[in-house]
Amino acid sequence: MLDVVVDHLQFAYDKNTLVLGDVNLTANAGDFICLLGQSGCGKSTLLRLLAGLEKSDPNQLRIGGKSVEKPSLDRPMVFQDYGLFPWMTAGENIGIALKQKYPDWTKEKRREVALEWMDNLGLEPELHDKLPRDLSGGQKQRFGVARAFAIDAPLLLMDEPFGALDAVTKALLQDTVIDLWSKEKDHRKTIFFVTHSVDEALLLATDIVVLGQAPSKVIYTHHFDESNKPKRETLFTDPAVNDLRTKLTQIIYEESTERARRLEAERAAQHTN
Ligand SMILES: Nc1ncnc2c1ncn2[C@@H]1O[C@H](COP(=O)(O)OP(=O)(O)OP(=O)(O)O)[C@@H](O)[C@H]1O
Ligand SMILES: [Mg+2]
Repeated sequence: MLDVVVDHLQFAYDKNTLVLGDVNLTANAGDFICLLGQSGCGKSTLLRLLAGLEKSDPNQLRIGGKSVEKPSLDRPMVFQDYGLFPWMTAGENIGIALKQKYPDWTKEKRREVALEWMDNLGLEPELHDKLPRDLSGGQKQRFGVARAFAIDAPLLLMDEPFGALDAVTKALLQDTVIDLWSKEKDHRKTIFFVTHSVDEALLLATDIVVLGQAPSKVIYTHHFDESNKPKRETLFTDPAVNDLRTKLTQIIYEESTERARRLEAERAAQHTN
């Protein structure tokens, strides 16, 4: 439910190396943005800036009209490595987020809502009291997603959340996330979702955004209307979707070969000097 404006965003971890060169994009409230791009191009960096985990120039990044000063419960992030506190039970990991968001709630209320969200994500109630180390990767991932959805934030940041899952678990979680997002018809969350899978982007996104090599900028965008949004049933049979898949794959491939050529040229130049 939040507009995000990224306006000529630049970012460097150390002064000499720009990671984000000139990123421009706008997400309207309720958009589901899938970010694609080769490893190291700055996708996680962009998410960390949106989360307020890294500091951006206030003129270059605005969320809901405001600059991003620090992390907020309005912008939870789901990490690829789950991000659960290992010393708390899995259920308490949801509970602690609820406590921060709704300080007046009793412990019982927090437990009740945590169990509801676990159920939404297909997690058995017995798992509530287990430590994260005693859960499978897929279960931990579900807890991470449940925690982010439970606090009902207007903006969700998801960094390759399903990258390490088997195909069936991945498909189930993708469907769950689409259901949770789409059923809030008039007040859908704005979601930024990083993935390496073109098919995952085709399935989930209202908008696909491809970042080029670092120092990166947006090299391609594609918007789906409600009417032409790919569905799981036709993901591999619809000719328009197949054409778009080919195009996206080609763009990403060409960008990576271009990078390999550039690195080779730099190495050769160093050798000559
Ligand atoms: N904390 C950090 N300090 C310094 N450099 C960093 C830090 N985090 C990332 N980088 C560098 O910034 C660049 C972009 O990293 P980032 O993690 O954003 O890429 P990515 O697109 O998410 O890659 P991947 O697809 O592999 O996850 C890389 O060169 C990386 O080494
Ligand atoms: Mg990353």
